[in-house]
Amino acid sequence: MALDSKTNSLEEFWIPFTNNRGFKKNPRLIVEAKGTYMTTHKGGTVIDASSGLFCSPAGHCHPKIVEAVHTAMQKITYVAPFGTGQPLSFALAERVARMMPEDINHVFFVNSGSEAIDTALKIIMAYHTVKGENRHRFISREKAYHGVNIGGVSLSGLVNNRRSFPVVMPNVVHMRHTWTEDELKTPGQRESGADRAEDLQRAIDNFGAETIAACFVEPVAGSTGVLTPPVGYLERLRKICDDNSILLVFDDVICGFGRLGAPFSADKFAVKPDIVTMAKALTNGSIPMGAVAVRDDIYETMMDAAPEGGIEFFHGYTYSGHPAACAAGLAALDIYQHEGLFERARDLTPYFTRAIHSLDDHPLVRDIRSIGLMAGVELHAGDTAGARGVAAQAEMFWKGMHVKFTGDCGIVAPMFICEHAQIDEIVDKFRATLDGLQR
Ligand SMILES: Cc1ncc(COP(=O)(O)O)c(C=O)c1O
Repeated sequence: MALDSKTNSLEEFWIPFTNNRGFKKNPRLIVEAKGTYMTTHKGGTVIDASSGLFCSPAGHCHPKIVEAVHTAMQKITYVAPFGTGQPLSFALAERVARMMPEDINHVFFVNSGSEAIDTALKIIMAYHTVKGENRHRFISREKAYHGVNIGGVSLSGLVNNRRSFPVVMPNVVHMRHTWTEDELKTPGQRESGADRAEDLQRAIDNFGAETIAACFVEPVAGSTGVLTPPVGYLERLRKICDDNSILLVFDDVICGFGRLGAPFSADKFAVKPDIVTMAKALTNGSIPMGAVAVRDDIYETMMDAAPEGGIEFFHGYTYSGHPAACAAGLAALDIYQHEGLFERARDLTPYFTRAIHSLDDHPLVRDIRSIGLMAGVELHAGDTAGARGVAAQAEMFWKGMHVKFTGDCGIVAPMFICEHAQIDEIVDKFRATLDGLQR
């Protein structure tokens, strides 16, 4: 499929999170993809160094997912998820629940990470309401990214994602982020910044624990450049939440499904949240889907509080648990298990870590943070913050590599199916691009 007269205009499609005017002058289109590589509309080959947007650890167009969706679609293309159901959603919920900590066994399906966050917010509000508590305040963090719906934007700590939208949710308090300049270019968890967990205690001291509903964190802040949790930080948040009956939410939209070299953040850091949000790799990115998994007593409290015969939670989407998404999810989980992809991500981590940190010495690199199969390569800003990142991303694409950039930080997240040679290719192309930018 090439650009043809029917698609040549490019004007009608308003491209998300993209410089539309620049893109339309010099489009970067992918027309086909297989495994780790994609093909551009000009016939070029591009290695996908960010698994799309951290979505596709098993590679593009995995035949088992394509087949599973095709088979499901021949039987059912749509079932109303309110009041009726279809078997695949129950099967997938059970599979997801089995991957969670033992007392998290209830799963609500949505269509994206942003919907997972808004759904988690509503579950938490409804839960405290039925308990008769007035916990209306939410704690989040600077530099957090929790998607783009109003709830997620309210929790997020990224100024560009907020400044055009003056009316967001009230009563959100942001803790400081955990990045410091003390241990630049150190792989894994760092020591510095753990004391910032005390910001949660300060919010409690300031507003009263009885007003605080939940604390949302990405265990590793992904989209803002792989900010790893300092040693002891998540443990301290857990303790403060426990002491004050505050729910702890792990937003695992990026970290979930093996990205950290363990199935979920709870496994990686040995800290148990009360609620987990997920999306992206749930279906290997093939069909939009997200989910919220909650602790049993939260679900049971909601069930018990509703009148007999009444709906327990007035929330849901037309496409919650869509059969195509469930089929894709079940196939993706089968692939992760049968191909041992989480273990492969864990085993590739030392090689990836060494390879990506070989860029530490580059004069344009300010910091590299890495954990599991994910690294943020932060460049020194040029005259305008973010401009160097935009230039680097475009240049990498024409050199045959896709990397997701946030501002001046390139976020490398290879597919779990990568071989060492592909990790080398990613790092070589990254370095060659930086060399070119320097001149
Ligand atoms: C941690 C986190 N939460 C939520 C989201 C939003 O997900 P979506 O873009 O599917 O709405 C993202 C997206 O990158 C994310 O990284």
